[in-house]
Amino acid sequence: MLECPGADCAHGSSTESPLTEDGIRHLVDRFYAKVRRDGDLGPVFANAIAEEAWPAHLATMCDFWSSIMLTSGRYHGNPVAAHRRVEGITPDLFERWLALFDETCRELFGTALADSFRDKAKRIATSLQLALFYRPEHDQPEHDRQRRRHDLCRHRQLHQVQIHGLRRGLSGRLLL
Ligand code: HEM
Repeated sequence: MLECPGADCAHGSSTESPLTEDGIRHLVDRFYAKVRRDGDLGPVFANAIAEEAWPAHLATMCDFWSSIMLTSGRYHGNPVAAHRRVEGITPDLFERWLALFDETCRELFGTALADSFRDKAKRIATSLQLALFYRPEHDQPEHDRQRRRHDLCRHRQLHQVQIHGLRRGLSGRLLL
């Protein structure tokens, strides 16, 4: 674990000092510095966030973690919509993101605080992944999908029969 700069720095330490906004800023700066250097995550972030937009992104991420960990209510965004715009985002990258995040938390904070960050990040990552990647129809077994297709065909056939019946009724002869 690293020493905090300054004797009055109150962010997480081996004695498990309470988390502060300052601690969150340290975490965010350090984590995204690693993300930007990372061989897998770096190019995805570089493509999505222009150089001049990084300070705003880091500020948003401080607000986000402050809302989650200190219930400050400072974050008012839509993470699902934001991640839908990210080109090249995959489930594997979430694993890398979580590993780097956990590593950074453990460098800066004591075990209890690092565990708490990890658990919250994991839960949020899972719900983001469900929103981004979960497609129920793709996860059904093949026979379920075939049955659904069959039901859909039957539904369409019935619908056509009804239309034909209606046309016959109107014109007095079978049109199709
Ligand atoms: C594969 C993993 C991830 C990638 C590649 C990724 C990438 C990005 C990028 C590029 C943005 C900026 C989008 C924009 O401004 O248009 C963003 C925003 C954000 N990300 Fe992630 N992210 C990942 C995982 C996560 C996780 C696990 C969390 C939370 C635990 C998270 C929380 C956020 C939040 C709160 C924002 C700000 C959304 C807003 O604009 O309000 N991200 N992410």
